[in-house]
Amino acid sequence: MANPSTASIGGKSYPIIDHSFDVVVVGAGGAGLRATLGMAEQGLRTACITKVFPTRSHTVAAQGGIAASLANMGPDSWQWHMFDTVKGSDYLGDNDAMEYLAREAPAAVYELEHYGVPFSRTEEGKIYQRPFGGHTTQYGEGPPVQRTCAAADRTGHAILHTLYGQSLRNKAEFFIEYFALDLIMSDDGECQGVIAWKLDDGTIHRFRSKLVVLATGGYGRAYFSATSAHTCTGDGGGMVARAGLPLQDMEFVQFHPTGIYGAGCLITEGARGEGGYLTNSAGERFMERYAPSYKDLAPRDYVSRCMTMEIREGRGVGKNKDHIHLHLDHLDPNVLALRLPGISESAKIFAGVDLTKEPIPVIPTVHYNMGGVPTNYWGQVVNPKNGDQDAVVPGLMAVGEAGCASVHGANRLGSNSLIDLVVFGRAASIRAGQVLDRKSAIPGINAKADDAIMARFDKSRNANGAIPTADLRLRMQRAMQDDVAVFRDGPTLKSGCQRVTDVWNAKSDIKVTDRSLVWNSDLIETLEFENLMVNAIATVYSAEARTESRGAHAREDFATRDDVNWRKHTLSTVGEDGKVTLSHRAVHTQTLTGEMDEAKIAPKERKF
Ligand code: FUM
Repeated sequence: MANPSTASIGGKSYPIIDHSFDVVVVGAGGAGLRATLGMAEQGLRTACITKVFPTRSHTVAAQGGIAASLANMGPDSWQWHMFDTVKGSDYLGDNDAMEYLAREAPAAVYELEHYGVPFSRTEEGKIYQRPFGGHTTQYGEGPPVQRTCAAADRTGHAILHTLYGQSLRNKAEFFIEYFALDLIMSDDGECQGVIAWKLDDGTIHRFRSKLVVLATGGYGRAYFSATSAHTCTGDGGGMVARAGLPLQDMEFVQFHPTGIYGAGCLITEGARGEGGYLTNSAGERFMERYAPSYKDLAPRDYVSRCMTMEIREGRGVGKNKDHIHLHLDHLDPNVLALRLPGISESAKIFAGVDLTKEPIPVIPTVHYNMGGVPTNYWGQVVNPKNGDQDAVVPGLMAVGEAGCASVHGANRLGSNSLIDLVVFGRAASIRAGQVLDRKSAIPGINAKADDAIMARFDKSRNANGAIPTADLRLRMQRAMQDDVAVFRDGPTLKSGCQRVTDVWNAKSDIKVTDRSLVWNSDLIETLEFENLMVNAIATVYSAEARTESRGAHAREDFATRDDVNWRKHTLSTVGEDGKVTLSHRAVHTQTLTGEMDEAKIAPKERKF
């Protein structure tokens, strides 16, 4: 509910507009909207702040589908889904969170159906499900399962529009094109709200609330080539680090096997789910050699490494032998039109290819961040304190790609992202309903915290150095792309640490040209770059320190997984000076209910 009173912050001439809510959700992608809807449905006074129009959030680009063991197309169970998720995570995920995900997935998808998501249908009218990488039957011993519920290849788009409509219907209040600057933290570490900049009129807004939910997405744009939208700048991670809290497992960055060569945009794994396959310059279906049983539907980390090895060994396609072909040209054009209409368009527009006749040029492309803000499976942010590694930060939650519950561990399975968004967005609202005291007062004004936030904003706005933000951002992106890639080793990671640190230090000489407050894209990009830098530096230092290979973190100098020393989460705290302090947190090996046979999910070598 908006409060029209205004005030000044810290003697600077920044009049502010005050608001108070029970809950403020930052971000309006799938997780943010599901959390917003769940909060509003319970009658909690809920605001959703978003820097882009809700239905333009990056979830809109999610294509292939959402995993849930509905068993519409053949036998399936939540235990098989959990097993695949644990194995996919390379045994770094938290078992309680992975059980929660797999168990709650069917209910969360049926809720979406009832809210109005227009899923594709089987002949009998059930939700259509397709195969996706790493999803199997019989604890990996049986054939691939059709577990991924799809709305053609525009599943994220369908979910986002439905959740936005339902949130409005339930009277959630939206603050659209507001950029969240920082969390308002009390001296004793409680989150009390957030300050945001309204981009279209330049006003500053203070949202005081009992709970802030960060749903700000990933930070794919720390890399030069990514399937992520340009808005994916890790804003939640930046805010959390500035609040003195750690990030978790940032070294695990997923490369999607099939980004369009040169353009970076996604060709869904659903393409291989519908029968597509990869070939090298000899026309060989090389995945049969690397993964005799899973073939092209092996998990993403593995397929991306196999593609990279083919290219390195001279079997890439094209003039420079630097990419791979994805074939769909053998499939019935009617199936392509029905099931994959979006990528038929993308292939035409971005690769100039008619996929009914020619292969699509593809290359592993940065797609997803397994790491993020550490949380429990309710979405509550945790920060180890006084010997309690799961101590909850009062007033703060993180969900979706911004968070790290951790259900994806070292590698996420395709279509486990959309289900993560809705299961944990929903879990956050269930938890809020349990823990929020509706009668308690909204936190008071915290002038010290507000001053610090506005001082940082003012400093960026008036930055008068010599280096444009875009130049520094490009240096960061190149360093991450070169040195924190599909394969990593000691020397390249050391070089990456140095290069990203150099960029951090060069920030003191940054130049912002536009001093205005209205639609100042120069300043927005600078604030986003600050957030990207926090995420990038945490990523490269965490990767350099982890001397093993696990999931998406493939080190050539430490080629095997080391469960004795490294089956643990990395926590990285980024100081104002760019110094990264690393510590660790134990993996939750206990399940939630004991209904999963623990022998099935004990660490083993991953074979496909
Ligand atoms: O390939 C895809 O459709 C992407 C799905 C995902 O990242 O879960």
